[in-house]
Amino acid sequence: MEGHALRDPGKPGVLAWTYNGGVPGPQLRVRQRDRVRIHVENLLSVPTTVHWHGVRVPNAMDGVPHLTQRPIAPGERFTYEFDALDAGTYWYHSHFKSSEQMERGLYGMMIVDEPDDLPFSRDVTWLLDDWRITASGSVSETFGNAHDISHAGRIGNVVTVNGSMHEEFAIRTGERIRLRLANAANARIFALKFQNHRPLIIALDGHPVRPHEPVQDRVILAPGMRCDLLLEGSQQPGTRHDVQDLFYPRDAYVLMQLVYENEARAADLTAFTPAPANPLPEPDLTSAAVHEIRFEGGMMGSLHRALLDGQPTDMRALLRRGKAWAVNGVVSDGHAMQPSLHLKRGRSYLFRMNNATRWHHSIHLHGHTFRVLRRNGKATDHQEWQDTVLMAPDEHVDVAFVADNPGDWMFHCHIVEHMEGGMMSVIRVL
Ligand code: C2O
Ligand code: CU
Repeated sequence: MEGHALRDPGKPGVLAWTYNGGVPGPQLRVRQRDRVRIHVENLLSVPTTVHWHGVRVPNAMDGVPHLTQRPIAPGERFTYEFDALDAGTYWYHSHFKSSEQMERGLYGMMIVDEPDDLPFSRDVTWLLDDWRITASGSVSETFGNAHDISHAGRIGNVVTVNGSMHEEFAIRTGERIRLRLANAANARIFALKFQNHRPLIIALDGHPVRPHEPVQDRVILAPGMRCDLLLEGSQQPGTRHDVQDLFYPRDAYVLMQLVYENEARAADLTAFTPAPANPLPEPDLTSAAVHEIRFEGGMMGSLHRALLDGQPTDMRALLRRGKAWAVNGVVSDGHAMQPSLHLKRGRSYLFRMNNATRWHHSIHLHGHTFRVLRRNGKATDHQEWQDTVLMAPDEHVDVAFVADNPGDWMFHCHIVEHMEGGMMSVIRVL
């Protein structure tokens, strides 16, 4: 339905598309191993679907139009139903014309609590987004234009946290906060620096990771990614501290201010208890089948021609058709593609991915969670589980997983303009 977002006190806000009338949509909160049932009724004037990002659902519940379900037509209903296998921080969003529907506000948070509560003083969510707002205060309708597709995607001019701008975050000295961050932007990458604080990364994409300080004090969140922080209220009552976003150095800005209340809280002295690991299948690297996956295209790249609809097509012709990217030489044209890889159910796979472009990409696999093994040939420090991994220009990233979830799964860049511009493929697990 329609509703208002980006509301500042006393102002009407921007007309958005919403789940249940607000942006973000309702925070869905369940307990690990719960059966989850979500009834969706489409009151928009266009079709839609809902995708449960990072949640290992059965294929028919994955919310990919034409591939796993018929789009939900205006006036129609669809019920999503699955078990919450893994605890952690997840989110949901439209997967139908995402460059428009996510930008207009169709996203929300999904939190799966561990079987036993963990001892935090507070559990807080910051769902990050940016918007391209016109001078007259509405969402710019330049969705999926050729420039955004072939460059960095649709970077907005207004950044919001939980749907609002100019936020202050009240904090108390002595508190120990579980801060769940998620990036719902079409294309913006965040690099958050918490001035005068030393947050620890305790989970990535929902899954616990050995607690560690972010590299160069920057918490990186590419589109689709989540990160749980342990944030301690370590500063004096009555003080203020900036949280800056430094990803685009020439456009650094303050995302949020941590504002300390005047009273301290008795410091929490119990030791930090990490969340238990989720029941993810461990890939067997000795027997894993290896696939090379090469991402190409975009401006200033070396892609001259690629296959579109089975036809070799040169870059100029691709651009005329709103395409600019290829995965292993194939440009996707919509979600209902022929699988590019056939994987055997239960077998381990190693994907050697290569970002052969001049741009960052945030690569997401549906239905599975992979271990990030190596970057540019060097073992990662934390061998983290992720469902979405950021690749810098020219970077090589190796990931491994067990293909244990049968069905046709999307594998795509989560910069949604890149996805729609061809950087998407389908992987079949049988
Ligand atoms: Cu969050 Cu295919 O997406
Ligand atoms: Cu991309």
